[in-house]
Amino acid sequence: MLGEYELRCVKCGRTYRADPWTIVCPHCGGLLEPVFRRKPLGISWALFRTRKFGVWRYKELLPRVRPISMGEGGTPLIKIGEELWVKFEGSNPTGSFKDRGMTVAVSLAKEAGVKSVICASTGNTSASVAAYASRAGMRSFVVLPKGKVARGKLAQAVLHGATIVEIDGPFDAALDVVMKVSGRESGLYPLNSINPWRLEGQKTLAFEIADEIGVPDWIVLPVGNAGNISAIWKGFKEMKELGLIDRMPRLAGIQAEGASPIARALKEGLSEPVFTDNPETVATAIRIGRPVNWPKAFKALRESRGAVEVVTDGEILEAQRKLGKMGVGVEPASAASYAGYLKLLGRKISPDDRVVLVATGHALKDPDAFPFPEPVRASSVDEAVDKIRGLAL
Ligand code: F0G
Repeated sequence: MLGEYELRCVKCGRTYRADPWTIVCPHCGGLLEPVFRRKPLGISWALFRTRKFGVWRYKELLPRVRPISMGEGGTPLIKIGEELWVKFEGSNPTGSFKDRGMTVAVSLAKEAGVKSVICASTGNTSASVAAYASRAGMRSFVVLPKGKVARGKLAQAVLHGATIVEIDGPFDAALDVVMKVSGRESGLYPLNSINPWRLEGQKTLAFEIADEIGVPDWIVLPVGNAGNISAIWKGFKEMKELGLIDRMPRLAGIQAEGASPIARALKEGLSEPVFTDNPETVATAIRIGRPVNWPKAFKALRESRGAVEVVTDGEILEAQRKLGKMGVGVEPASAASYAGYLKLLGRKISPDDRVVLVATGHALKDPDAFPFPEPVRASSVDEAVDKIRGLAL
């Protein structure tokens, strides 16, 4: 299993035989990155395009496993401006981009004989873990920050049969629990984005964009635990190495004001994030104070000559409302992409740049994020008809 890969530590550079259970560097605790031992041969867009659009279209660039799949990826690229698109990840089976990583990591875990999986989550990962674990016939445990997970996401974790553990504290504390309790001994397989095999799946988001419209000038996305930005950059780098593309995009990472350890540090020219123990934002998906994938994210932002931006809760909700008016329903964290884009426009991003905004999760995930105006009330059919006629004039 995984013979086509080895794992390389991004901190100390040591390499290891690829194994599903090797999550961080056994030597220095650094993050690991799967790398191909030999350049995959016979890869071309023509080959990929003989298959259905989605994660497994690119199977030569993923672990060779029997996929546990529900048709993840293949999400719509919605044009909302002359050179502006939204990659609508809300169309994934559980309504977020997490499914791209989960189909790969859960398939691998299944082949490795795993019986139980675990994750910490601000909500979307838990929904995806619960669904894919059930599909694979495994138990799932999800550790959540109490009171800070959007209702739709919690409902999914319940529906798909996860055991829910709530902790007093932010996501970061929940992840501490997972790192302590997971491992070969407990048999609990960790499915957070610190698991490099999940990011292998998530890199297909980059493949799909290039497959559909080529390489844009900018990709704008929200950053929480910083897994997705790392995965997308890996995807573009691999395509370039394989000759599938001939240029690279720039990445713009957007964080919420009250949870901006990466964006704030890079804006101030620091070489490490400024962690916080009390992250706070209406975009609960990215309410994270100590993003574990920061070294990969810093590298991606540096290598891509990227940009970071900090957006307020007000700007996030305004961007969510504006996208809503275009027919595009996203959850607050995903609206951070658009809010950040609007702030970077004319400064880092030029109006004629080709831009893709990554909309990471569906609006239905968090129905309590926006206010409901008073409806028009009627106590009879005739009254309703009258009132609507009056309003429609
Ligand atoms: N957008 C949404 C909707 C998310 O759910 C997340 C992360 C992100 C953006 C940020 O992605 O962590 O890779 O930088 N959600 C995780 C979770 C933390 O538990 O569902 P990232």
